Amino acid sequence: MSILLVTSSPRGAASHSTRVANELADKLLAADPSAKLVARDLVANPLPHIDPDYSTGIYTPAEARTQRQAEVVGVSDTVLDELFAADTVILATGFINFNISSTLKSWVDHVARSGKTFAYGDAGPKGLVTGKKVYIVLASGGIYSEGAAVQFDHAIPYLRSVLGFLGMTDVEVIRIEGVGMGADAVAAALAKASTKVDAIVAATGSAERVAAAA
Ligand SMILES: Cc1cc2nc3c(=O)[nH]c(=O)nc-3n(C[C@H](O)[C@H](O)[C@H](O)COP(=O)(O)O)c2cc1C
Repeated sequence: MSILLVTSSPRGAASHSTRVANELADKLLAADPSAKLVARDLVANPLPHIDPDYSTGIYTPAEARTQRQAEVVGVSDTVLDELFAADTVILATGFINFNISSTLKSWVDHVARSGKTFAYGDAGPKGLVTGKKVYIVLASGGIYSEGAAVQFDHAIPYLRSVLGFLGMTDVEVIRIEGVGMGADAVAAALAKASTKVDAIVAATGSAERVAAAA
């Protein structure tokens, strides 16, 4: 197993999404000692916003790019290499102003590359990032998985759309929700997320055992 862990909370050590994503990564690593992990911390090392040099550079042959175009496209190439090298991707984000964190949006902007991660053909768009298992860990102050606020969840539907467009359709969501509703709600949300992490790790382990025995 090769894991890419992408964290993006602006809340530092207080982040629930970073904590649960790390818990998932640590338990997956413990279950498979041969597994490797690459951690990309989008807060410690934010990716630059895409700009005119990027938007032009990605459509310019490598040998014809200006130095700045080569630099900014090189950032995208690096995160793309990390994505393609992984078979398991963990994306962690807080629910910020009804969507994903802006640092994670920047990551999406760098991995959505025409000709690299998607292509248009006679049958329309085709995602080129296939065979990945993706876990999204989302922490939110309110509750958006059910009830009146479902319509305000622009994070999970957005991520499912763009990941699916790129070919990543095997997506599982771990929510830590309602953390703005007091200490008891935080404890309950974290316990529920932890239970889901354990179920995921147990299922992954048994899937691998079945594959090995076949
Ligand atoms: C700047 C900011 C904006 C936020 N916007 C929302 C929001 O729109 N809806 C919501 O339910 N919670 C919102 N929250 C609460 C976060 O979703 C919550 O603190 C969550 O735990 C953040 O994820 P993290 O713990 O991984 O940092 C916001 C928090 C911050 C700091």
